[in-house]
Amino acid sequence: MAADLPPSASTAAPGAGAAHGGAAGAIPLPPGSVPPPPGDELVILVDRALDPRVVVAHEPQSGVAEQYRTFRANLVALNPGGQPRALAVTSAIKGEGKSVTVANLAVALAELPDTRVLVVDADLRSPSQHQLFGRPREPGLADAMLDFVPIERVVAATSLPSLYVLSAGRAVRNSSELLGSSRMSDLIGALKAEFQWILFDTPPALPFADAATLGTRVDGLLYVVRLEKTPRDQSTRALELLRNAGCNVLGSFLAGARSDDGDVRSYVVPED
Ligand SMILES: Nc1ncnc2c1ncn2[C@@H]1O[C@H](COP(=O)(O)OP(=O)(O)OP(=O)(O)O)[C@@H](O)[C@H]1O
Ligand SMILES: [Mg+2]
Repeated sequence: MAADLPPSASTAAPGAGAAHGGAAGAIPLPPGSVPPPPGDELVILVDRALDPRVVVAHEPQSGVAEQYRTFRANLVALNPGGQPRALAVTSAIKGEGKSVTVANLAVALAELPDTRVLVVDADLRSPSQHQLFGRPREPGLADAMLDFVPIERVVAATSLPSLYVLSAGRAVRNSSELLGSSRMSDLIGALKAEFQWILFDTPPALPFADAATLGTRVDGLLYVVRLEKTPRDQSTRALELLRNAGCNVLGSFLAGARSDDGDVRSYVVPED
């Protein structure tokens, strides 16, 4: 990842404040969870509402989880000062793995000590983060933007300490205008006072302007390419479009690459 992250616009200390109105560690166990037995055993409790595709939480020892941690390490290395960062994730076309990548990368970042992470579902056209994290879709981002609902009322805790989610909210017709508004920039600034990393899920970049629009308001953009699915010319065209719009493309996440033993894996290609 050769592209640099710019100096942060926010001067607030990472992790300052509590977006959910309380300490991140004070989240109760989800209903139906069995409390851990006493003793030294390592017990991993995963909320049943969390989608199995959030592999970093469900299978933290797996190779796939490790790949997301490598992705995390690349991002952390780009941000030696530790400033709060807002990043958008997009791809050329639909179904390339944007949402699953956002959710897993967010879990990996939230594993770091003293690191509060927020997932924002800015794919207002086809939102899915509420499903991945087992949350209601509303209220969410669209409601915060349109009704001036305070962020502490729309940001929800997850069962994972330090990880929060802002669902898409109600359906809107003008998502690209909303994401490009000055209110969106204000919201990003306010979120940076509360969270170390803010990851935005977005619609695909070729058919819709949303990702390019939001991409110029965040610190960097991560580009997902689904191997054996995305036609090369479409992938190249979308990347060019994002760069021409002024987005700071940090690197690509190649989803679904096949290793020698036939396993489907993913890996990160830094920007040159
Ligand atoms: N790294 C990966 N390797 C293999 N399959 C993946 C990977 N990431 C996601 N998938 C699968 O691809 C499908 C689409 O994933 P996802 O919903 O994240 O894509 P998307 O780009 O967000 O789609 P949309 O544009 O419709 O929002 C899912 O069924 C998911 O399980
Ligand atoms: Mg998606």
